[in-house]
Parts: sequence; structure tokens; C-alpha cells
Amino acid sequence: MAATFPVNRSRRLRSSASMRRLVRETTLGAHNFIEPYFVMEGRGEGRNAISTMPEVYQLTIDSLRSEAEAAARLGISGALLFGIPATKDEFGTEAYREDGIVQRAVQALKADNPDFLVVTDVCLCEYTSHGHCGVVAEGDVDNDSTLDLLGHIAASHAAAGADIIAPSDMMDGRVAAIRSALDGCGMQHTPILSYAAKFASAFYGPFREAAESTPQFGDRKTYQMDPANRREALKEVLQDIDEGADMVMVKPALAYLDVLREVRDAVNVPVSAYNVSGEYAMVKAASQAGWIDEERVVIELLSSMRRAGADFIFTYHAKDAARWLSE
Ligand code: PBG
Repeated sequence: MAATFPVNRSRRLRSSASMRRLVRETTLGAHNFIEPYFVMEGRGEGRNAISTMPEVYQLTIDSLRSEAEAAARLGISGALLFGIPATKDEFGTEAYREDGIVQRAVQALKADNPDFLVVTDVCLCEYTSHGHCGVVAEGDVDNDSTLDLLGHIAASHAAAGADIIAPSDMMDGRVAAIRSALDGCGMQHTPILSYAAKFASAFYGPFREAAESTPQFGDRKTYQMDPANRREALKEVLQDIDEGADMVMVKPALAYLDVLREVRDAVNVPVSAYNVSGEYAMVKAASQAGWIDEERVVIELLSSMRRAGADFIFTYHAKDAARWLSE
């Protein structure tokens, strides 16, 4: 039988910083982070503030290059790119142009630093006039005609040099469609990270201002998941792996740590978490009001995602967290 008090005193192993570090179960480091960026058109250095996300900006390609260089110097593993095109239309054609905003941004980052990973978000919502993640037909998002376009987007990102293709649209069958589009243009070696368990969440609110992607009618509930569903998240993850996903994601992170743990236990591929815009905004607002200690809260939250099973984390706090962890 296990010894109990007074033989067992758990406080013995909490007695000093070195002792606590020795027995720490979960590690957190800059290499666990990927920083998301919003890239916009414009020459030279330039940035637009995003009112819902303090200290996050829409960046021109030149400003993005400076940000990525700083991130790489801090040991952050890579960037996740979202594009803000100059024009939008019904079919999101700017999303798959060879010289589109994301495609040029990928080329610039890979030319600057081949070791800094570039992940691209594959979706139509920033590029369509109606703001939905697919082609709209008869008032609904048409799944199967969207798949072709997603394949074009993915192929154009891979051709530009993207290291990882990350579809976030939540159409059925998209991983298989993207895999075959990539293989069809000689990109057999480009991995797919699927936003596999992506919930229809109010925590994306601040992002939609940053990416200018608010749906003009309706919502995303016919393609993103119901926040109440746990079993369905596993089904989505297993299906995406079956279709060829090399890695998967659970999104958002904080309200879904239970899902993250279950996914981690159920699969053998790398699992990531997306610490989304609303999670960032809540922490920023409370810390700006002086109500919480931002550094301690951020490290605690990012550790909780790692503890729940995330191998790596997409986070707008990447640079701050990397700095705090190196102090
Ligand atoms: C695009 C996409 C969204 C996010 C990532 N990719 C928005 C959405 O689905 O509405 C959200 C990221 C965040 O909130 O930080 N489909």
C-alpha cells in the first residue's frame, strides 16, 4: 500500500526552484510555438493595428519579414499565414493566384530563412465577398464544388514553398482532395496539418476583424462543429488521418482541453492546439486593466495546452512567451 502522511510529504519535492524544475512533468519552450500573421498588400514597411487584438497587426510583406526574423531569433518554430487580399469575389479567386498575397509572402519568408517553417491556412473566407469558407449555392455552402478550389489554393501555396498546408474550412473530404491536388502537381512531400476538430466558436470573434472575414449572412454552424460534441471530434480527427492528414489540430484550445487530451490519447500523429484570437483578447484585456499578471497567466495557459497533449501551439503570444521563458 502507498505510504500516507506523515511518511509521505509531497511538499518535499516543492522545496526549491531547482527541485520543482527537476520533477516538472510538462515542458514549454519557444520551439513549441508557431506565430500566426495577417499579411496585407502594400509596399515597404507598414502595419495596421487590430482593435480587438492589441499588439497584433495586419502586416505588409516587408513588415512580416522583420517580424518573422525576430520570431526565428527567439527560437519560435514558424509562422502561420493568413492573407488579406485587395479584392474579394464570390469564388475567392485571389486565394489561388500564383502571385497572390500569401504566395508572395511564403516566397519572401522562405528566401530569407529556409529553416523557419511556413504554414499556410487554406480557406476561402478571407477571399470571398460573402465571407463563407466555401462556394455559396442556393444560400448554402456547397461542399463538393469547394473541394476543387481548396485543392487549387493548397497547390499554389506548396508551389510557393510552404512547408505545411493547413486546411481550416471544415468541408467534408477536403484532406483527401488536397492530398490528391498536391500529389498531382509533384508536391508529394508537403505535409497536411488538418484543422480536424474545429468548433463553431465565439472565440474567433476578434480574428474576424483581423482577417476581415466575417460571414455576410448566416454563420458557420453548418460546417464547423457543435461545441457540445466530443465523440464527433474524434470521428473528425480519425477521418482526416484516414484521408491522409499528417498532423491534426484542436481549435479553440482552452474551452476544449478535454478534447485535446482525448485526441492525443487516440492517435499517433502530432497534435496541435490553436490558442485563438478570443483567448488572446481576454488575456490582453484583463492584463491591460491590471486585473491579472499577463506573464504568469500566459505561461500557465500555454502549459495547460501542452499538459492536455498538444505537441505544439499556434499562439499570438508566441514572442512574449518565448521572451519570458528565456529570462
Ligand atoms: C479561417 C480561420 C478562422 C480562424 C483560423 N482560420 C476563422 C473562422 O473560422 O471563422 C480563427 C483563428 C482565431 O480566432 O485566432 N476559417
